[in-house]
Formats: sequence, structure tokens, C-alpha cells
Amino acid sequence: MKIFLDTADIGEIRRAADANLIDGVTTNPSLVAKVAGDRDPKELYLEICEAVPGPVSLEVVGLDRDTMLAEGRKLAGIHENAVVKVPLTEDGLKACRALVAEGHHVNVTLCFSVSQALLAAKAGATFVSPFVGRIDDASGEGMELIHQIRQVYDNYGYDTEILAASVRHPLHVVESMMIGADACTIPPSVLWQLTKHPLTDRGLDGFLKDWERLGAAL
Ligand code: E4P
Repeated sequence: MKIFLDTADIGEIRRAADANLIDGVTTNPSLVAKVAGDRDPKELYLEICEAVPGPVSLEVVGLDRDTMLAEGRKLAGIHENAVVKVPLTEDGLKACRALVAEGHHVNVTLCFSVSQALLAAKAGATFVSPFVGRIDDASGEGMELIHQIRQVYDNYGYDTEILAASVRHPLHVVESMMIGADACTIPPSVLWQLTKHPLTDRGLDGFLKDWERLGAAL
């Protein structure tokens, strides 16, 4: 399963990319607003694209097909790894179809149902992003949606990649892997949590204490 970092924070992106822990990045307008300050977002996007080895999702903000298409072309022109992110609306699906026809990669975001995911696949999306955490927040079963989309895409042979999004904790990542999501985008805090296990710390502590008693050097 691919791991993408869900942030526009270039410091966190570099930290994860330098450790070869991520396959790409996803951003959204809210994540950019958190870190951009006075910077031109397009400059930040280029910096992010240059820092990671794989796809970087950059989101349009227009609401109609033609505006999304124009914005999508600009975003796609920033870097060869740019993936245009469009919302799962009627116009978003039309823009997706047009962008894909021009050879761009598209991530259809804000997916909350299996029928929406079917339409994203029919529009030729490279990725579909079901928001598991936000479904859980509304007392639903976010991971159930990943199951359903996996089943439908497998039933009909769609190659749109399922990108589990709105991840809140490590269990969402584990379940995504077990279900067979193609990718999971996770906030930096969750990525760092994944590196940790109390038995690793305890084990390391024991090894180092025993080594110290030996009084030897390597
Ligand atoms: C997906 O690409 C989105 O950026 C993201 O996962 C949204 O998650 P949130 O519910 O934490 O805002």
C-alpha cells in the first residue's frame, strides 16, 4: 500500500521524504491555509513536488467544470508529479473526464459513498479519496466504505486507485492495508505514531543496558 502524507507542511514532508517513508503527498485548501502565510500557494506546491518522489495532489477551488478545468491545467503544469484534485460533484466529474482526456492525473476527493466512487471510476479518475474519519465523526463506519469500494472496483475491473483519506489514527492505516486500499494518506502525527511500539522502546533499553555492562565499544 502506498503511503501519502496529508499535509502542506514542507518541514514534515522533507522529514518523511528524507527517511523514504512516503510515496507522495496530498494537500487541500485547508491544509495550505494552515501553513502558507503570505506565500503564493503555487510556489509552495512546487517546493512540495520537488521534495517528494511521487504524486502530489493539488486541489482546484472553482466550482464549475470550466473553472476547474482551467485551474487543473495550471496545477498540472506546476510539476510532472502534480495530480489535480477535484471534488466529487457533477462538475468535478466532468472536469475529471476532461483532464484525464488531456493526459493529466486526477484525484476525486470528498467521496462519501460507494455510488460516488463508481462515478469517479467511470470518469477515469486516477485516485478516489473516501474520507473515512469524517464518516466516523458522523457516527458512520468509514472503513466499511473502503470495503465496498474495493469490492465494486474488483467486481468490474476498475483501475482507479482507492486512496483512504481523512485518516485519524493508526488503526485506519492497518484496516486500509487489510482491506486492500491502494493507498492511504495520513497526517504527519499518525505517520510518526506508526514508527512507535512500547516493546521496541523496552527492548532497546534492555539491549543497551546489557551492552553497557559489557563495557565494550563497537
Ligand atoms: C484528503 O486528501 C484530505 O486532505 C484529507 O484526508 C482530509 O481529512 P480531514 O478530515 O482530516 O480534514
